Amino acid sequence: MRVALVRELGGIGSVELRERPDPTPSAGQAVIRVRGAGVGPWDVAIISGAFGRPALPYIPGFEVAGVVEAVGDGADVRPGDRVYANMGVAGGGFAEYALADADRLALMPQQVSFEEAAGLVVGGGTALDGLVDRGRLQAGETVLITAAAGGVGSAAVQLAAAVGARPLGVASQRNHDYLRGLGASEVFDYHAGDWVQQVRAAVPGGVDVLFDAAGGQTRDQAVRAVREGGRAIFLAGAAAQLGPGVVGESLDADVTRQTLEAIGRLVEAGRLRPQVEAVLPFEQVREALERVAGRHTRGKIVLQIG
Ligand SMILES: NC(=O)c1ccc[n+]([C@@H]2O[C@H](COP(=O)([O-])OP(=O)(O)OC[C@H]3O[C@@H](n4cnc5c(N)ncnc54)[C@H](OP(=O)(O)O)[C@@H]3O)[C@@H](O)[C@H]2O)c1
Repeated sequence: MRVALVRELGGIGSVELRERPDPTPSAGQAVIRVRGAGVGPWDVAIISGAFGRPALPYIPGFEVAGVVEAVGDGADVRPGDRVYANMGVAGGGFAEYALADADRLALMPQQVSFEEAAGLVVGGGTALDGLVDRGRLQAGETVLITAAAGGVGSAAVQLAAAVGARPLGVASQRNHDYLRGLGASEVFDYHAGDWVQQVRAAVPGGVDVLFDAAGGQTRDQAVRAVREGGRAIFLAGAAAQLGPGVVGESLDADVTRQTLEAIGRLVEAGRLRPQVEAVLPFEQVREALERVAGRHTRGKIVLQIG
């Protein structure tokens, strides 16, 4: 099979298309004939040596969708099933065949393409796990979402609206109408020097929840918008200082079969729409990674494979 392979952790330039033996499933695993693979900042970080210690050679790719080709004992899916899967930090998604754990895949929603399904796995899964399952976001609460136009943020805005919360999106000006279309009630530009004051003017007392997908300076500013006793969920490192009574949590999202099934139900109910900025052919894997590394994609970049 053809794979994108990294033999040394040397960044995007170290990714090469190579041939490798087809995988065979062990107990509890399924081999997926990959049709779409989502590309994320985690792929860029891992191949640059900035995240985790992958065994080399390494095949990037945390999220795929495709058709089950073969199953190991005890894996309760069947050849021919259309599934989407969380490959996790072990990767392996940028390949014609991916070896997935059966408890981290689910039947994909009917009305979406393979590329759309692949792009929902980490973004949708992280938003659901972080905001709803662990963040316990309630109807009527205000939630400030940074990097709101990105892969995770675009799902988080929709999920917050779906539970009846009031999503406030933080993004560049050019993404503001886009965020309103996803369900954001107010939008703020982190380039404005007074953007946090603008949030506090819109929500006197501060927001109930911060869902920070931006990290860095934006995160450190955003924590000042959280009300006393509020909650903060950090995806890209925690803030050093929190306001009085604010409970912070660094998320390590756990995207299981149950998470993916819940996402599927939200998609089928029309509450969560996949957001794909571009689909690139497998041969353009480096270009796809470069676009993600630029940090200004809207929704997802997805590779079309097979
Ligand atoms: N801990 C976990 O379990 C977990 C899980 C998934 C993801 N993550 C992390 O969460 C982060 C977001 O992931 P993602 O896939 O959503 O990323 P992404 O799609 O690459 O995010 C792109 C978005 O980031 C925004 N952005 C860029 N620079 C910014 C800044 N300085 N301040 C605010 N926003 C900025 C851009 O908005 P504009 O173009 O509007 O400027 C763009 O829309 C990444 O660091 C990722 O590694 C963590």
